Amino acid sequence: MKTNLPREKYSQAGPISPVVLVTSVDENGRSNIITLGMYMPISHDPPQVVIGVSPKRYSHDLIAEQGEFVVNSPGIGMAERMHICGIKSGRDVDKFKEAGLTAAPAQKVKPPIIKECYGHIECKVVNTVTCGDHTLFVGEVVAVSIDEDCLEGGKLSLGAARPIAQKNWDYHTLSDI
Ligand SMILES: Cc1cc2nc3c(=O)[nH]c(=O)nc-3n(C[C@H](O)[C@H](O)[C@H](O)COP(=O)(O)O)c2cc1C
Repeated sequence: MKTNLPREKYSQAGPISPVVLVTSVDENGRSNIITLGMYMPISHDPPQVVIGVSPKRYSHDLIAEQGEFVVNSPGIGMAERMHICGIKSGRDVDKFKEAGLTAAPAQKVKPPIIKECYGHIECKVVNTVTCGDHTLFVGEVVAVSIDEDCLEGGKLSLGAARPIAQKNWDYHTLSDI
């Protein structure tokens, strides 16, 4: 038996999404973190990724103004800290302090990497598209780093990294598959 849903509930019929922590900076170099489910690789050559950010978010202004962001990949052990970054705004709090996360310099962009995350994709914005109530920022990848402990034969080990996926703010890891 199938059941119909109202079309605004379309996401219930879709798969779970990855969760990433995206860092950005303001003009004074003060950094912020936002939790995003809307993340996707979009081009291999040149390497580009896309993130979907609501114009309501403080991070939206920082990324639009500074043109740079870092996609940090958290493991499931960071679920609680990741959630804090998704319910508090950098307008009101320092989320590095609030969530107990550590900023470290990125290689090629001003926003920092989050040390506790296993992977870091540094991006410069090359395209911006308004899509309904979100903005898609397309970022060209300018540098990438990963925890050596999460590599097996040069490839990401899901068992070691234990990346987070979410549906309705219910967090899981895919590493058992
Ligand atoms: C699991 C999860 C996924 C989220 N995904 C998105 C997203 O893809 N796009 C978005 O604009 N906000 C998303 N949010 C909401 C923002 O993370 C949240 O509004 C945050 O407090 C904004 O922070 P800022 O104002 O410091 O930028 C998500 C929140 C959670 C908890």
